[in-house]
Amino acid sequence: MKISSKHLVLLITGVYGVAAREALYTDTVISNGEGSTFAPRNNYNGWVNPEDLASMPQCIAQQNQSTWLSTMTKCTSKQCTSHFAFFCTHHQWLTQLSCLSMGFSSNVIEGYLPYCSRSVLAKAQLYLWIRNLTGRTWLVDIGDTIDVQSLTPASLTGGYAAIDVIHDAPKCLTSSVSALSMEPFQYVLASCGFTSTAQHYGNADRPWEYSESLQAMTAPDFETVGYDLTQRSIRDGNYFDKECFCNAFTLNMENEPCSGPEQLDLTRERLWMNATCGSTSLPNNWTDILKTTEFTYIPTEDWHWPMCIADIPKQVIKLTDQCATDACEIDSSGYCKVKRTVYRACFCRNIRYDSCGGSCQIFETRIDYVKWLYDLCGNLQDWHGLPDNWRQLAAPTPLEMIPWQWTLKPSNNSKISQITRLGSTGATATCASNEWKLRSFALVNIATLLAVFLSQGTGIYRTAHSFLSHRHPWWVFKGTLMAALQLLASWFSMSLVQETPGYEDVPSMQLMLLWCTIPRLSWLTLLLTWSQPFEAMDISEAASFSLAEMILQFLISYYMVMTVNYGREHNFYFGGLEGAARARSAKFMYAGALMWLVIIGLALIRSIRATRRMNLLTGSSSPDLPKWQRGKQLTPSIIEDLTAQSNERCTRSWVQSLDTSRGSEEASLMSSGGGSNTAYGTFSIEGRENWVSKKAAADLHASTVIAMFLLWIAQWFFWSGFIGLSSEEFCPPKLKLLTAVWIAFSLASTAVGVT
Ligand SMILES: *[C@@H]1O[C@H](CO)[C@@H](O)[C@H](O)[C@H]1NC(C)=O
Ligand SMILES: *[C@@H]1O[C@H](CO)[C@@H](O)[C@H](O)[C@H]1NC(C)=O
Ligand SMILES: *[C@@H]1O[C@H](CO)[C@@H](O)[C@H](O)[C@H]1NC(C)=O
Ligand SMILES: *[C@@H]1O[C@H](CO)[C@@H](O)[C@H](O)[C@H]1NC(C)=O
Ligand SMILES: *[C@@H]1O[C@H](CO)[C@@H](O)[C@H](O)[C@H]1NC(C)=O
Repeated sequence: MKISSKHLVLLITGVYGVAAREALYTDTVISNGEGSTFAPRNNYNGWVNPEDLASMPQCIAQQNQSTWLSTMTKCTSKQCTSHFAFFCTHHQWLTQLSCLSMGFSSNVIEGYLPYCSRSVLAKAQLYLWIRNLTGRTWLVDIGDTIDVQSLTPASLTGGYAAIDVIHDAPKCLTSSVSALSMEPFQYVLASCGFTSTAQHYGNADRPWEYSESLQAMTAPDFETVGYDLTQRSIRDGNYFDKECFCNAFTLNMENEPCSGPEQLDLTRERLWMNATCGSTSLPNNWTDILKTTEFTYIPTEDWHWPMCIADIPKQVIKLTDQCATDACEIDSSGYCKVKRTVYRACFCRNIRYDSCGGSCQIFETRIDYVKWLYDLCGNLQDWHGLPDNWRQLAAPTPLEMIPWQWTLKPSNNSKISQITRLGSTGATATCASNEWKLRSFALVNIATLLAVFLSQGTGIYRTAHSFLSHRHPWWVFKGTLMAALQLLASWFSMSLVQETPGYEDVPSMQLMLLWCTIPRLSWLTLLLTWSQPFEAMDISEAASFSLAEMILQFLISYYMVMTVNYGREHNFYFGGLEGAARARSAKFMYAGALMWLVIIGLALIRSIRATRRMNLLTGSSSPDLPKWQRGKQLTPSIIEDLTAQSNERCTRSWVQSLDTSRGSEEASLMSSGGGSNTAYGTFSIEGRENWVSKKAAADLHASTVIAMFLLWIAQWFFWSGFIGLSSEEFCPPKLKLLTAVWIAFSLASTAVGVT
């Protein structure tokens, strides 16, 4: 078993510096302790060869051995080991065992015991040595070896540590002396040292030798204490007994060995003592001035910059170098590992929110920058580098949550707006309140509602309907007209806004498209036409509304898609709005836009299927009537589910009305001109085709109404969110006039719708 000489030197550097002997024995690495068993090869009537005696125990080797050696010397003399008749043929230096047991009396041991009993392991080794030579089971007083007679790992009450941890101690500590005993640190450590198994230091084959030149016994070997005395084994290496060390080595609390100018050494010293001996070995407030990486010092490998690093000035970047220093990272055992770090307080002293401009002040990089700054310096007591409203800066601002770049408010360029600004009414005062903005939209809707009900009462549409319903191009014209009226309303209100002084810079196309997204009640108009008797049921009704709606929704999609996309880019749909001012409004707006997109998607799928089905039904000569039902089972869309119920209801009422009014069935829009009158089932082919086209019309009706209704809700969400979010950034001028315009055009559109 090999152990490195470096650690042996450390182990044997006892009070009496056994290291001096090192020069004598160059072979510092010796085999392990089989020679320790006291089994003398030759015993000449109680005289034995000194080489056969067990090696000197560690704690004796570390002290002044002169008493020990002289005791050995006294019992050693030249003896004749081989006779021929009365002549001695061979002389040998032998040691008398009975003399040794007398010689190593308690008086001799007494001088050695205080040092040897520091460590239970060393004491146990001494005890075994004495017991083997003298048969005595005590050292100085009867009973003083009870604690070492059967050792267990628990006998080392303070535990042990590898001697390598000495490298974690600063030099000022390892070269200091114990406050009480004035013993050097290294000697105390040596007195408490042990190895995993007993090791020989010196010439294991000749542990004792009589030197004729010195005329005294010498001990060319000694044996280290092995942890195996506790009946357990540990990994090979050199260790020390913590309890032993901590009792023998104390710090001078008033004048700590490392209390010099280098604060790092004091931290290393205190951490080393805390890890080894616990905090009781240290002053009460010892943690106050530690240089550790826990908070005050940030390891350079953990350092990171915010995303806007490109806009961080050079002098701020350089701060990490200026504030760099060494500090302790506490390892798992509590010792100090020196790390390169940045001193937090030093860095924070030199940085404020305003220190970095450019992208550091813009939206996401600003949020990242503010959070970075807060994490870094927010917990420092004297640091006030963030503005008071920093929490708002750490979230998107209302303006940043608006997906487009322009706002609807008077600019400074106009003289008139400056005049109004100078007057008693400020910019915010001229802006209508959010409630009024929403109320004007509601008014437009209410006006439409009233108009629809009134028109129903007067029955305008019936005459017009019966007159026009069968002309194909009419529904195209009607749909286009309805869309055109809405567009005209948008264009008109855009012009009204742009004419207003201060609003000349508002982008006209974008504003016009924005006006298009105002929620309209057109779905109600369609719904009411649907509730008319069955004969009036006409696919052109739904078709014209669908066309108008398609044109308008196509224009609306500009804003909705833009909003959803902007929300997706900035993570607004997944928590990006948390903590922002007016986050609730923003959520409404983004939810509305997303809802709009989903409904449009579903409606598109639905209408594609409906078209295909109608083509199948009208085009095929197959007599399988319930083909549409097969298709239905494959379409689990929401709208499908919603419409299913109403479809059933409608189908039933039509079948009834079909029975009552067979005669007037010729009024079929889709009737194919063929004269095939073959009877099939309950209905004739002609009747069936008529029924089918009615069914298709009802289907289209229902899904158009529902889609328009849901889109209307989505648009309300969008607008109520947008108005709450933009607040004074959205100030339509002449709101009353605009409302009047919208109402007028809405009524006109409704009138077209119901005729
Ligand atoms: C003491 O002697 C016994 C046998 O005589 C041996 O097993 C033991 O290892 C010896 N101990 C020491 C420390 O020499
Ligand atoms: C060891 O002790 C003896 C007396 O016990 C003394 O004479 C001698 O000087 C001591 N040796 C050292 C190195 O102190
Ligand atoms: C001091 O030592 C104790 C016990 O070993 C440990 O719990 C504590 O964390 C240490 N303190 C420091 C500052 O390392
Ligand atoms: C705490 O440390 C300061 C110096 O850092 C010292 O003046 C003070 O007396 C200490 N307090 C205690 C209770 O040890
Ligand atoms: C508009 O005018 C206000 C003061 O009347 C001023 O604070 C602001 O900076 C001006 N904005 C622009 C874009 O000129």
